[in-house]
Amino acid sequence: MSDHATTSAGTMEHIVSLCKRRGFVFQSSDIYGGLSSAWDYGPLGVELKNRIQRFWWREMTQLHDDIVGLDAAIMMHPRVWEASGHVDSFSDLMVEDTVTNERFRWDHLPEENQRTKISPAGNPLSEPKQFNLMFKTHLGPVQESSSVVYLRPETAQGIYVNYKNVLQTSRVRIPFGIAQVGKAFRNEIVTKNFIFRTCEFEQMEMQFFVHPSEDEKWFEYWKEQRINYYRKMGIKMDRLRFAQHGPDELAHYAKDAFDIQFLFPFGWQELEGIHNRTDFDLSRHSEFAGKDLSYLDDLTKERYLPYIIETSAGLTRSVLMVLSDAYEEETIAEDDVRTVLRFHPDLAPITVGVFPLVKKDGLAELARDIERELREDFTTFYDQSGAIGRRYRRQDEIGTPYCITIDYETKENNTVTLRYRDSMEQVRIPVAELTIRIKQAIREYQRVGE
Ligand code: GAP
Repeated sequence: MSDHATTSAGTMEHIVSLCKRRGFVFQSSDIYGGLSSAWDYGPLGVELKNRIQRFWWREMTQLHDDIVGLDAAIMMHPRVWEASGHVDSFSDLMVEDTVTNERFRWDHLPEENQRTKISPAGNPLSEPKQFNLMFKTHLGPVQESSSVVYLRPETAQGIYVNYKNVLQTSRVRIPFGIAQVGKAFRNEIVTKNFIFRTCEFEQMEMQFFVHPSEDEKWFEYWKEQRINYYRKMGIKMDRLRFAQHGPDELAHYAKDAFDIQFLFPFGWQELEGIHNRTDFDLSRHSEFAGKDLSYLDDLTKERYLPYIIETSAGLTRSVLMVLSDAYEEETIAEDDVRTVLRFHPDLAPITVGVFPLVKKDGLAELARDIERELREDFTTFYDQSGAIGRRYRRQDEIGTPYCITIDYETKENNTVTLRYRDSMEQVRIPVAELTIRIKQAIREYQRVGE
């Protein structure tokens, strides 16, 4: 950052507008007027989402040798959701404005509206009624009760029903974990704040199976691991906090639960949940499926039903978190404000921008050659249009951490300008050193949190 710069964080309007303008996120079915609360990830958005997913997957499966992966189907046997408690209890209290028909989640209404039973628009509210959040559909051509299936409202159950398969086929022993990333669906009464709360979203969940006597120890371990993960991603730590669930907030399966909350532009909100689910899920699946899901410790010969510590993060919600955390408007001079996304280089959709100073005199060809070389190690973007300063700013706005300019001097002595997004510093270096210099700069980011 330049010495005299001042910065400000983005509002939701700024972030939504940048996402649309630069191809991160589009409204679903835009040409038909849009489908409310559904969003499509554009060329840069899908890269960002994939990188966050990869960062999480590496953290959970590569850096923890006691965790293995899984990818279960979205549709599961309907009995799964009876056993899990979702058919009976996965509902929110809903009320309706009797004049405008606008719907509200009862627990999200201010106390004053709950007490008076008057909507924020000043009209009488209907009586609260329970609304199940699961999407129901039918498998096959006949719509009868035996063909009912649900779109999974969490990925976790796919892990529980596969726990024995994993045990029998991998060399895991308790304590161990199973990680999974995938779509989940909830028919939310109110969706809002862009991609924060949607009906179709993605989760990154890990279920850690432990001895019942060690649940509290592992719960604390995973709280620490998960907050450290966000530090490694470069998220500002003063924008993260833990919030413990009170007894009346605990989900039906939980003995203890903490949310990791992030300070979004609209306030502190849940980003991830860490839950002690006890043996609730395995004992219910044992009962409903009629299968013994207990674990036999081959060393101690003890047989028991493991407890489960769950870490459950929203992937699509993490995209909004990373965008909100990275967004800055930096005042460089009185009438010069640059918009910059300060992504961690491992998350940035493009790592290196490559520009010829001008198109002529063989500079474009030279720049193309250098870009092709760099592609082997980094995601690159070639841009030859407009003034060089504007090209830098276009890359700042999408969070590209490094840019390279090829000029006449390059032809003479094989050196280029490497420009750093965050400091805007420019250094002259030999082409042969580019890859190593960029890797070194990325490594410096990666050291944080290690
Ligand atoms: N398996 C436990 C579970 O699903 P949860 O607290 O209901 O727990 C976990 O959800 C995470 O999933 C949340 O912290 C959030 O990041 C994400 N999530 C939940 N509902 C969502 C929605 N409607 N839209 C986007 N993300 C959502």
